[in-house]
Amino acid sequence: MTLHKKITSAPKADLHVHLEGTIEAAMMFDLAARNGVTLPWASVAELHAAFGFRNLPQFLEIFYAGLQVLRTERDFFDVTYAFLKRSAADNVVYTEIHFSPQGHLERGVTWTEMMDGILGAATKAERELGIRARPILGLQRHRSEEDALKVIDAALPWKQDIVALGMGGAELGNPPSRFVNAYARARELGWKCTCHAGEEGPHGYVTEALDLLKVDRIDHGIRSIDNPALVARLARERMPLTVCPYSNVRLQAVPALASVPLIELLDAGCLATVNTDDPSYFEAYLNENFLGTARALNLTEVQTRTLIENGFKGAFLDEGQCTAYL
Ligand code: ADE
Ligand code: ZN
Repeated sequence: MTLHKKITSAPKADLHVHLEGTIEAAMMFDLAARNGVTLPWASVAELHAAFGFRNLPQFLEIFYAGLQVLRTERDFFDVTYAFLKRSAADNVVYTEIHFSPQGHLERGVTWTEMMDGILGAATKAERELGIRARPILGLQRHRSEEDALKVIDAALPWKQDIVALGMGGAELGNPPSRFVNAYARARELGWKCTCHAGEEGPHGYVTEALDLLKVDRIDHGIRSIDNPALVARLARERMPLTVCPYSNVRLQAVPALASVPLIELLDAGCLATVNTDDPSYFEAYLNENFLGTARALNLTEVQTRTLIENGFKGAFLDEGQCTAYL
């Protein structure tokens, strides 16, 4: 069997994806029309033309404009289900999906609308497509910790449905240390914790996420490569890193796929995984992230297999549930 076939046919996990980063352009315009939302782009072609991202903050402006089309339970259902269907076509069988409540609540969307839509689609997709999806409450780090704590408290009726606390948004200038109390609260609630760190920000933010937020996983984490002692620590602690190769290229965190430090991380013994981040904006779902990376880095079959298995080992699953996927 070719490596291509081995990648595409293998059951896989996507541990780092933002629901709002899965809205395909055509669906975005459909939802905008359905909800009477005016987008800053006149057409799908114009939106696609805006996809030449310079960096994370400039991408986030577009991401925040696009998510405005999500208004109702049906919208959350449709977008979640469409993503799960597309992922199932790549043989993704398990995914943990960040969603950004702060970007919706401020527009009058309710928690019930968000959660009923997301969980309803997850239930249907598990039954009909054999893919399991669990939501991660994704904080926006440019907002205050006070707002983060409010959002966490408002999520309490869905405490059992939410698998973890996460945090994304503009990284530089918003270090993990700003959110120590929010993460402490999440841990009190029994949630797992993850945090974007070392994407555009320095390796010191990864260390802060480990030491101050006591996270169970690091999202991205590629800048850890600048600190060999940190890489050794990540390996020793078997800390999962959710690397998103196409995201790193599109947001110019690295110059090319060949520069994504997956081999270095694997060679050091790190639990590195491959994920999508915002697949509709970066125009690469999970298979393409694996295939593109395998091509660019000339990955061996063993390295590819390890990355696929790490997707399950890094998931917020207990050992028995994880083993069942391997
Ligand atoms: N939100 C959506 N995509 C993101 C990324 N790549 N980094 C930080 N926050 C995000
Ligand atoms: Zn992300």
